[in-house]
Amino acid sequence: MAATAAAEVRYGIVGVGMMGREHLHNLAHLAGEVERAEQLVRVRVTCLADPHPESLRLGLRLADELGLPVPQTFSGHCELLDSGLCDAVIVSSPNMTHYQILMDIISHPKPHHILVEKPLCTTVQDCQKVVEAAKQRSDILVQVGLEYRYMPPVAKLIDIVKSGTLGQVRMVAIREHRFPFLVKVNNWNRFNCNSGGTLVEKCCHFFDLMRLFAAANPVRVMASGAIDVNHKDEIYDGKVPDIIDNAYVIVEFDNGSRGMLDLCMFAEGSRNEQEISVVGDIGKVQLRRCF
Ligand SMILES: NC(=O)c1ccc[n+]([C@@H]2O[C@H](COP(=O)([O-])OP(=O)(O)OC[C@H]3O[C@@H](n4cnc5c(N)ncnc54)[C@H](O)[C@@H]3O)[C@@H](O)[C@H]2O)c1
Repeated sequence: MAATAAAEVRYGIVGVGMMGREHLHNLAHLAGEVERAEQLVRVRVTCLADPHPESLRLGLRLADELGLPVPQTFSGHCELLDSGLCDAVIVSSPNMTHYQILMDIISHPKPHHILVEKPLCTTVQDCQKVVEAAKQRSDILVQVGLEYRYMPPVAKLIDIVKSGTLGQVRMVAIREHRFPFLVKVNNWNRFNCNSGGTLVEKCCHFFDLMRLFAAANPVRVMASGAIDVNHKDEIYDGKVPDIIDNAYVIVEFDNGSRGMLDLCMFAEGSRNEQEISVVGDIGKVQLRRCF
């Protein structure tokens, strides 16, 4: 069937740091008319919100370079929501801001669809409150940007596991040996109270994948981690960072399968930065991200 007249989706971005600007790149790829479900959809970015003037400046500059001029900026998400300028909001602000921003979007009289960067929130309780609030708004779609699922090699691995080639998945092992956390605007990622901690900030991707591969929910977690090498000589407002830089985590799932994470964040230059192996009762698949 031929595509019909173009609809328009107007995006706003809340938080225009590293990831907000990555989303600008992604939206630039969609900015022409894309055909979705037999309808032409035109994508525009109509506004950015960020309290940090330098982030807004960099965001506007990038948007211009991408041929995606953004007509309006705001210093906070409330003005963005009240402006009525967008239909969908990408939340790419620091983790500790997600809860309030999400609740404000979900409770706003004008419906706005949401793509929120991982993690949804920094505590389980806040996540549950957001999920409950979102359930009351059948007119909006809320999605968490767990992007690892969509990386082509991982997507392929998910397909292989789902096809049953490995049989019943019994073990999922994920190793990440990488460089330390990058510097962020106002160094928010140096403290557990802002990020939710290393295992939330960095490893939510991996726990999400374990759940997908195991096709089950976790029932028991054992973990050991420490602050051994990174950020020990940094001080912000008189405080030394409190985030762990290495850990082993074992997760048991309700169907009897097990996951294991091996994280080291002082292993820059490792040949395989990330490795995933999924073992079923009749087969095994391994994936390595090499540099
Ligand atoms: N998908 C991934 O793999 C991935 C990778 C890195 C970061 N992230 C996530 O993306 C989010 C942003 O991380 P980042 O690396 O871009 O950080 P960043 O520090 O580079 O950018 C955050 C931006 O948000 C702004 N900000 C702070 N408070 C705000 C508020 N109340 N309202 C609006 N903007 C606000 C800051 O001024 C800054 O410009 C985090 O949730 C992080 O966990 C995801």
